[in-house]
Amino acid sequence: MKFFLDTASLKDISWAAQAGLIDGVTTNPSLLAKQAGDLDPKDVLKEICSLVEGPVSAEVVALDTDGMLREGGELAKIADNIVVKIPMTEAGMVAVRRLAVDGIKTNVTLCFSSVQCLIAAKAGASYVSPFIGRLDEVDQEGMDVIREARVIFDNYQIATQILAASIRHPRHVVEAAMIGADVATLPPDILKKLLLHPLTDRGLEQFLADWNNRVARAKAPV
Ligand code: G3P
Repeated sequence: MKFFLDTASLKDISWAAQAGLIDGVTTNPSLLAKQAGDLDPKDVLKEICSLVEGPVSAEVVALDTDGMLREGGELAKIADNIVVKIPMTEAGMVAVRRLAVDGIKTNVTLCFSSVQCLIAAKAGASYVSPFIGRLDEVDQEGMDVIREARVIFDNYQIATQILAASIRHPRHVVEAAMIGADVATLPPDILKKLLLHPLTDRGLEQFLADWNNRVARAKAPV
């Protein structure tokens, strides 16, 4: 399973990339607005693209097809690994198709049902992003969307990649991996949580205590 980092934080991306833990990055207008501050968001995206070799999703903010195509074209010029993120709307699906014809990869965002995933795939999306956590928060089973989309895509050999988004906890990652999502995009705090287990901490503490006792015994006068 591929991991993307769901952030525009250069510090977090740099750490995860150095550790070889991430295969790409996803951003959205909220994340980019938070990171960019007074900087030009395109400069931030350029920097992110230099930190990771894999795909970097950058979202359009226009709501009409022409605007999406204009913004998508501008975003795609930033770097070869930019993937243009397009919302799941009527105008968005036309933009996805035209960008695909131009050889520009897209990630259809704000998907909340498996049939939306199928529609995005039919339009020509490279990735579809079902939002698991936001569905759980309105009392729906977010993981069902991943499960259904996996079956549908496998039934028809659809190559569009299922990108599990809006991940809230490590269990989401495990379940998405077991179902066979192609990618999970993780906020940095969730990626860091994947490293943790209380028995790891306890074991390390014990190893060091035993070692220090041995050193102390060796130094003690006979
Ligand atoms: O970037 C898309 C998605 O992962 C956003 O998740 O945490 O805002 O629900 P969240």
